[in-house]
Amino acid sequence: MAAVKAPSVLRRLREAGFEVDVIATRAALEFVTPLSLTAAAGREIATDATWFEARPDAQHLTLARADISVIVGASADLLARAAHGLASDLASATLLSVRGKVLWVPAMNEKMWTHPAVAANAQTLKNWGHHFLGPQHGAFGTLGEGAGVGRMAEPEEIAAAALELLKASGPAHTPDLKGLSLVVSAGPTREYLDPVRFISNPSSGKMGYAVALEAQARGAAVTLVSGPVNLPDPAGITLVKVESALEMHAAVLEAAQDAEIVVMTAAVADYRAATPKTEKEAKTAGEVSIHLTPNPDILAALGREKGGRVLVGFAMETHAGVERAALKAQRKNADFILLNYPTQQGTSFGGDDNQVTLVRPNGSFEEWPRLSKREVATRLLDEALQVYMQHSTA
Ligand code: C5P
Repeated sequence: MAAVKAPSVLRRLREAGFEVDVIATRAALEFVTPLSLTAAAGREIATDATWFEARPDAQHLTLARADISVIVGASADLLARAAHGLASDLASATLLSVRGKVLWVPAMNEKMWTHPAVAANAQTLKNWGHHFLGPQHGAFGTLGEGAGVGRMAEPEEIAAAALELLKASGPAHTPDLKGLSLVVSAGPTREYLDPVRFISNPSSGKMGYAVALEAQARGAAVTLVSGPVNLPDPAGITLVKVESALEMHAAVLEAAQDAEIVVMTAAVADYRAATPKTEKEAKTAGEVSIHLTPNPDILAALGREKGGRVLVGFAMETHAGVERAALKAQRKNADFILLNYPTQQGTSFGGDDNQVTLVRPNGSFEEWPRLSKREVATRLLDEALQVYMQHSTA
């Protein structure tokens, strides 16, 4: 029944200023004619039949360039296909390729909507940042089920929600990092003393993951070398999971071979056990000493063989920050360092915001306001790109 409302949703979206491409699924075409959809959209519609027509482009990839994809009358079946990465029809294949926002407007029987399978699929999509409108309480269905949660949102609400989502996201990303390879390290490292005990730190990895996601959104090919963190694996990014500083050292150096930009956000442990025990040490009543040996400095190692690469570091200082960070940038041959203070309110380990100062090896610096980690990532990449352009025109 919800499919019948599709033409009026299209009209509302066009009134709101959208140019709309329509993908009609096989099921939708049982309820609504291609002609009424074409008339409402003001252009030819795409179907599973058009997908296989000879054409110069891959239709699902072209359609996936939309700023927003709105699934009107989303069925339990399409939710499941999207949540499980199936590409068995044009609508699912397009959803697998979209980079813009996704707004699901479900319509189904309340029993289906509240089934754990459907709830889990909707949750998966939400975890990926997809948005949902409804279903709402009201009458639904053609089978006389009556009222309940399952009714699709009204066409004007759908158009308003789509517009709101685009406003919230601001201008679309420009692919200014396209053609560049970026390596980002993130999170803490773990230095095992024996099979169960280790030295580590509270780094959450959020800053590094934000840099990786932002770079990918701007078109870079990204390798993320991550210590143990509690964050979802980002889609479309090559993820190398490591534990110790030695593993991170090997993974970063290897990935950096082909990279133009390397950003070391990882909180690498400075020391590891000189001789880690192969068996768990029994507890004793007395004091114990652990002999520690320094870990290799990954950023400094990259700095020694810098080539044309842009190298970015982070530094956490409790005092004399700018001078120490500038000296650090010089010593490690980094192009710039983002300095932060562990003591500042709201910007400590694990938070969503960060307040950093950009420090260059020559001692010049810029103090940035408190920003979300994603916004810090945006500015960091703006600066890295600028340095890269200077390198390549020098
Ligand atoms: O010397 P410090 O640890 O303060 O330097 C911090 C910067 O150096 C960060 O970018 C960090 O990722 C990097 N680093 C590294 N290898 C280490 C220690 C720090 O790459 N062993």
